[in-house]
Amino acid sequence: MTVRGKRALEAADVVYSPGRLSRTVATKHVPESRIGDLDFPMTRDEETLRSAWKAAAAEIAPTARDGDVAFVTLGDPNVYSTFGHLRRTMAAFHPEVELEVVPGVSAVTAFATALGVEITAGSSLALREADKGQSPTGPDRMILFKVTDAPATHAGLVEAGYDVTYGRRLFMEQGETLVTEDPTEIDERDYYTLAYAERPDARVEQATDAFLEGADEAGVVSDGGTRNIARQERSEGALSGDKMGGDHQ
Ligand SMILES: C[S@@+](CC[C@H](N)C(=O)[O-])C[C@H]1O[C@@H](n2cnc3c(N)ncnc32)[C@H](O)[C@@H]1O
Repeated sequence: MTVRGKRALEAADVVYSPGRLSRTVATKHVPESRIGDLDFPMTRDEETLRSAWKAAAAEIAPTARDGDVAFVTLGDPNVYSTFGHLRRTMAAFHPEVELEVVPGVSAVTAFATALGVEITAGSSLALREADKGQSPTGPDRMILFKVTDAPATHAGLVEAGYDVTYGRRLFMEQGETLVTEDPTEIDERDYYTLAYAERPDARVEQATDAFLEGADEAGVVSDGGTRNIARQERSEGALSGDKMGGDHQ
């Protein structure tokens, strides 16, 4: 929960939650009496979904017109989130309600810390879905959401030459957090599972790699700068092919 998100929840007259897990996030910051539940059927039927969102928007709109309401989601509200349905429905049927979106910490970025991955300058990262055992391939580095059949996804990724790490329930208090390279450890379906796939040769060397490689037998690290001219030239070559807009971010 970001500080801005916490403030938005605390200031709201009613905090709506679209599910059980997001409700537990809300209960940490507001009393139960200020939490409103929205009912969403577990279906892909578009007509049923449209009428559920219309009903949800109709319930929210009167309170939102007279005061402040909040809608709480997991991660970021604009990344594969139910919030998109609410935003579109509110815009269509209740355009007078003003909306402010508070960004959240998405699994898209949180995975990096949880899995000990660094997305370095000069490299890129693609976001893909991999449900039902799918194994999307192509980019050098991918974060895969909705991994529901890890062994099947794994087989396809390994065949395509990727190293893969899985993360389940990262930074979540409900359920056990698991980080593993072994897909058989997570063969049980759990919606809150992602995978990070990287081609082994995709790493872009960084100037400061020289420090660790320059350690002597006693593990003493020295500045390997002067003897690493060749490395520097390689790194600059890799970077010059990249279309990065800014630097030092
Ligand atoms: C519908 S998306 C919601 C994403 C969310 N809005 C976000 O920004 O992180 C759900 C997918 O995100 C991934 N995910 C979200 N939170 C996760 C977590 N804490 N641990 C592992 N995967 C997570 C899983 O792949 C899951 O299937």
